[in-house]
Amino acid sequence: MAASEAVPFAKTGGLADAVSALSLALAKLGHEVRVVIPRYYSISRDSLKKLEGAMGVPVGGGEEWCAVYTAKLPGSAKQGSVPVYFIDHENFFGRDGIYGTPKEPDFLDNPRRFTFFCRSVFQLCRKIDWFPEILHAHDWPSALAPVFLKYGEKRGPRGKSGSFAGTVSVLTIHNLGYQGVYSRDNYPYTNLGWDIFHEAGFDDWNMMNFLKVGINCAGKLNTVSPNYALETRTQAHGFRLDGALRYRSADYLGILNGIDTAIWNPAKDPHIPRPYSAADMSGKAEAKEALQRKFSLPPEPDIPLIGMVTRLTGQKGVGELFYPGYGSAWSICRDMRVQMVLLGSGEAWCEHEAGSLSSRLSNFKAHIGYREDLSHLIEAGSDFFLMPSRYEPCGLNQMYSLNYGTLPIVRNTGGLADTVENYNQDTGAGTGFMFNDLTPPAIYNTVGWAVWAYYNRRPHIEAMRLRGMKQNFSWKKSAEKYIKMYEDCLASKA
Ligand code: ADP
Ligand code: GLC
Repeated sequence: MAASEAVPFAKTGGLADAVSALSLALAKLGHEVRVVIPRYYSISRDSLKKLEGAMGVPVGGGEEWCAVYTAKLPGSAKQGSVPVYFIDHENFFGRDGIYGTPKEPDFLDNPRRFTFFCRSVFQLCRKIDWFPEILHAHDWPSALAPVFLKYGEKRGPRGKSGSFAGTVSVLTIHNLGYQGVYSRDNYPYTNLGWDIFHEAGFDDWNMMNFLKVGINCAGKLNTVSPNYALETRTQAHGFRLDGALRYRSADYLGILNGIDTAIWNPAKDPHIPRPYSAADMSGKAEAKEALQRKFSLPPEPDIPLIGMVTRLTGQKGVGELFYPGYGSAWSICRDMRVQMVLLGSGEAWCEHEAGSLSSRLSNFKAHIGYREDLSHLIEAGSDFFLMPSRYEPCGLNQMYSLNYGTLPIVRNTGGLADTVENYNQDTGAGTGFMFNDLTPPAIYNTVGWAVWAYYNRRPHIEAMRLRGMKQNFSWKKSAEKYIKMYEDCLASKA
């Protein structure tokens, strides 16, 4: 697995959860899995072991030198342990931020940082003399790895015990909205010729596009829910790559993410006051009270509490919630007897608006920042979890919510549509509340509908909670689908 994030070492979003959980699930099914990520500045070297010797990586017509550290993925079982390798290069990764900082959201040298990283994957395998059958890349930062495999590395230097001649590649798209589009001035840094620039399809209106060329070159592709796999083939959701994806349709699948129930489980969550389960929900009421106190809200058990944990970015529908004079969060909190808590960080305007809303409304509280413990308490202590995403490749939080008996209020899109079943107020069926259009009134009305049901259809709400908690979003199920994709990929090579 070549990736730019993996929990618990580096995380900006669900990609990190998915990479580690999938690796562990594959290992538990008997496969030998190793993960490689950059050693960002935030990952302390103290708990890692250094591999002997420096490693040279051929880029930019010369060589960059780096160190390699290693550790085990926590949660590794004896027979299924997953080593993680960290590529340590001071110039590229010895700074705050994974892709950027609030002041510089996309580091200027990102094309070089991640070109170097993708090339280092092959040198790492040679160094440790371990040649995988499957090279699995995730999102644009590692999307050049399948390209390097196809153009050069397959016939590149052998190690003692093998080479990449038998390796095939898979690319998982976690988010089509981020593609890594940069000036083609960065292209020579890949050490590939200009003939390959055109043959492989790096070209994107005179720029180079990491994700696009990865899509063209990977043996098989997938994204993280069946519905998003369909949506991304359309112009509306394809972010200009719908054509590239339609062209690869025969090799392009949707495989729903799972959730790591060792970490996201109300029955053994260390971040909530008392564990609970479908059999005894009393711990959920305690979590609600703890959450209210934490956010300085009156600890009223019978006011519906709506939680949000999110990156504050357009993808998540935050414009329709918080944009001044337009967003619906203000009118929801003004008109309805509810409480609302938000945990998030991201775009500066939104951080500012959420903070200012907190000071103007007594029933809205925001914590700006990244807090693992609070994210668990919000999942457990809320009655509803709001996710009005513009698009959502899979979405993990709605699945965490279902597992914690918290009813998702979501837009009918991407993986949200695959995991939440809309409430039917005649029969009481469903696991959450859904709307189609991303507009402030649609969010307002759907939150209003959920609040109405909370006050007037309480038995339905309680039954929906239990129904949600019974869903099975195990990674085992998803990992089996990945294995099938790997096997198909190896077979089509043959
Ligand atoms: P995305 O990857 O698009 O952000 P997902 O729903 O797949 O969306 O995953 C988001 C993950 O990031 C979840 O595990 C969520 O709890 C976590 N997360 C997002 N923002 C924060 C935050 N401010 N503090 C703690 N966790 C956060
Ligand atoms: C991306 C998507 C999110 C998905 C996550 C993990 O960040 O935005 O929907 O759940 O990747 O695959």
